[in-house]
Amino acid sequence: MLASRIKVSSYRPPIHEPEEYADRFSSTVTNGFIALEIAIGYELGLFCSLNEFTSPVTSTELAVSCKLKERYVREWLGCMSAAGFVSITPDDTYFIPEACKPHTESSKLASVLPHVAANTSSVLECFKEDGPKGYDFSNQLGNLMWLDHDNKSCDSKWIDENLFPAGHKETDTIRNVMDFGCGLGSLTIKLAEHLPNAKVYGVDIDRNAIEKAKENKVKENTPNVEFMLLENDHLDESWTKKFDWITMVDVLHDLPNPNLSISEIKRVMKDDGIVSVIDPCVHSDHKMNQGNQTAAMLYVFSTCICLPCSMSREPAAANGIGWGVQNRAEFLKSKGLKILGDEHNALLQFQKA
Ligand SMILES: C[S@@+](CC[C@H](N)C(=O)[O-])C[C@H]1O[C@@H](n2cnc3c(N)ncnc32)[C@H](O)[C@@H]1O
Repeated sequence: MLASRIKVSSYRPPIHEPEEYADRFSSTVTNGFIALEIAIGYELGLFCSLNEFTSPVTSTELAVSCKLKERYVREWLGCMSAAGFVSITPDDTYFIPEACKPHTESSKLASVLPHVAANTSSVLECFKEDGPKGYDFSNQLGNLMWLDHDNKSCDSKWIDENLFPAGHKETDTIRNVMDFGCGLGSLTIKLAEHLPNAKVYGVDIDRNAIEKAKENKVKENTPNVEFMLLENDHLDESWTKKFDWITMVDVLHDLPNPNLSISEIKRVMKDDGIVSVIDPCVHSDHKMNQGNQTAAMLYVFSTCICLPCSMSREPAAANGIGWGVQNRAEFLKSKGLKILGDEHNALLQFQKA
């Protein structure tokens, strides 16, 4: 999911010394609280507005600019200034130093936190021996909307650099494309805009997602895109050997039955068709992720969204993000597929052997 597009990476080696352990543990918990306030600031446009002001502002001026209640904005400013992310002048006006403003961009990532956290009570039940195995995407609209919003910035340059099987396919030879597990469809629409001579099909198993995707299509007025609900894991019977290019963005590790989905994808690929898969770049061996803070964050998405989805129905593959890119490559090879280029990146391209 989203996760493959997260461009933060930091490494903090594992700690064995108790004082440092205590310090990092407590600061991580503290930062979790502050991240929630950052999410609030992003959602309400407070960072955006503060960044637009060219001189320090009062809490009232900031509140007015965002059409918010001053008292709440003042509390938010109290938190942000205590955390060090907003500065205060001696006469109680607030600002973000000019050179620091671009770095408030990370507040966008924080804004998914409340949606992920909304799954907490459900996931607690799933952990229990006698609890449910998992849950699918039907109650994950907030998370899907967050992802979809992120996809709106995937322009042609992004598609060329991050998804297109360059060196293996020429854009103008592509007639039929399928975006498998398309969610709310913004990336599918971007693909259709990028390939105006192709027909692009977005398919997803989630009814709510496909309804929203159809609404998106109408809004964006993209004639060469079509969204279809996948009733079970079987793709349209008439699609055998139809597709030149298939994309699976943040989907493969979520699937409860990847064996069936991949055999269906094999069926609908042309003999020289290519599939581009993106999954979060987490190593399959826990030992290799030690100290990797990005991997730690991705596991939170996995625990609350991806793993429950992959366990939501039989045969419950239970992959999730922790499946990792090494296991993914082995799985695809075991299905008789040929991997083109690097097999251990977030992006993997494959074709029929
Ligand atoms: C993390 S979202 C990614 C959505 C979209 N590709 C994006 O990047 O925003 C995973 C999507 O896979 C879909 N999905 C889950 N199981 C599926 C299945 N068996 N077949 C097709 N789609 C599935 C979910 O409904 C969800 O929309």
